Amino acid sequence: MAPTLQHTVSPFLEPGPRTKPNSLAVLQLSRDNFVPVYLQEASGEHDGYVEGAVINTRYGSFPHSTLLNVPWGSQVRASKVDTGSRGRKRKRQLDEEAGCETSEPIEDENEKGNSNGADKEHGDGDEAKQLVTDASGFIHVLPPTPEIWTTSLPHRTQVVYTPDASYILHRIRARPGSTLIEAGAGSGSFTHASARAVYNGSPVEGKRQGRVFSFEFHEERYHKMKKELSDHGLDGVVTLTHRDVYAGGFLVGGKSPEADAVFLDLPAPWEALPLLSRQRPQLKEGEVGEAGAKPWVSPLHPKKSVLLCTFSPCIEQVTRTVSALRHLGWVDIEMVEIANRKLHTARDRVGLYLPVDRGVNNSAKDVEEAITKLTEIEERFRENARPKQSADGTEPAKQESKAATNGKTPMNGAALKYPWLDGRLVTRGEPEIKTHTSYLVFAVLPMVWTEEDEAVAMAKYPLGRERFVVSVMGKASMKEERREAMQQKQGNRKSRRKDRDEKLAEVEG
Ligand SMILES: C[S@@+](CC[C@H](N)C(=O)[O-])C[C@H]1O[C@@H](n2cnc3c(N)ncnc32)[C@H](O)[C@@H]1O
Repeated sequence: MAPTLQHTVSPFLEPGPRTKPNSLAVLQLSRDNFVPVYLQEASGEHDGYVEGAVINTRYGSFPHSTLLNVPWGSQVRASKVDTGSRGRKRKRQLDEEAGCETSEPIEDENEKGNSNGADKEHGDGDEAKQLVTDASGFIHVLPPTPEIWTTSLPHRTQVVYTPDASYILHRIRARPGSTLIEAGAGSGSFTHASARAVYNGSPVEGKRQGRVFSFEFHEERYHKMKKELSDHGLDGVVTLTHRDVYAGGFLVGGKSPEADAVFLDLPAPWEALPLLSRQRPQLKEGEVGEAGAKPWVSPLHPKKSVLLCTFSPCIEQVTRTVSALRHLGWVDIEMVEIANRKLHTARDRVGLYLPVDRGVNNSAKDVEEAITKLTEIEERFRENARPKQSADGTEPAKQESKAATNGKTPMNGAALKYPWLDGRLVTRGEPEIKTHTSYLVFAVLPMVWTEEDEAVAMAKYPLGRERFVVSVMGKASMKEERREAMQQKQGNRKSRRKDRDEKLAEVEG
């Protein structure tokens, strides 16, 4: 694992136009094959490679130097790398481990000399080694995004996939500047998506920063994710806490995160819900004394409605969650299931009436076969269309083409039918889009409405104390309004006339 890296802004949030050293990049080997890599500047021999750090793939070797400072999305060709010293070094290590005397003389000193030379050159900023492209293949260098990370991350748990994450974030109105509580963090798939959703730029005095407060009680997962967040430069946006939220709640350092959005991917969300309340939850048995004496601090935003989503695979979990939400005053409770289907549209050519091809497989095995078949059909068609002469040359011969006799139905000069345009259009679902079938429960906890809020609203919208109500306007007030409008009009006319008279007087005088 690479050492913890230093970032100014996360490449997930602001990747910039080009790849950078000491930053995460994603190498796309094929459509669904992504490899996350921390790009390192060449600083001499690395793991036996004179070229510095090298990544080896089935499409060849790629020194990091070829991947650095290139525009995101670039296609990079494999390079020929010198594995000489690597092989010998490994062999010597193995021999040493096995306690053997090496039989071959090891030219390590010379090698070292060479690589040091390379080091020096690196240090001077020159090309260390002229790299030669290899015909073994190429890859694409992509910027890290939550979507790519979800498909390439090391799975420690079941994860929330992009179709669910994007829908959830939209429904809980996670946007730049939002504060989101997430539990549990698991493999960090949703965490990355939510960090990008709430990010609203670098900290500015007086501006509320978008933040994600994430909780995970599994110690190993917590440590792995903590390191990942730091390597990805996301620890300024995400605060990860190691805690069992059923018991410990959602405060961070004793303070309220003041969340306006909540996402719970927990086995028992109903256990956590009482702690996501504006009032002190009922004390559990034995929880008297100290816990009860402390003032209650809510983790929720006091002046905003809070939007929540829970993610549960079983309907029984949904039932218990909905019941708890109702008891705790949440409203607009709704359950949604996302079922993604990619529809593949094609022509169904099975069992078609194709006189020439009857009884054979209707689809050609490859392009060449298709072209040969079509050329043959066209040739036969032309032959049939030509008038045939009898032996004495007076009457057209009544011959039937091979196709007409063996296919039972003559083509009779009918326009040639292209088989690929025949057939009913059919659509089939492709189970290709990854998503975890779970039930999503959404709910809203309305904002607290105090007497002061009521007074402010009353002053702004004086309900019941209006001068008039639209469409039931009193006669007197209507008259008064009209009079005011007339007076204003007359006033305008008078002042315009006065201006004009003054100008005329000036001109004449
Ligand atoms: C399904 S995983 C979450 C996956 C995550 N949403 C993602 O997209 O990668 C559920 C996580 O919740 C954690 N968890 C379960 N009970 C918890 C609790 N009481 N407090 C905190 N975390 C908990 C588990 O350790 C597990 O890592």
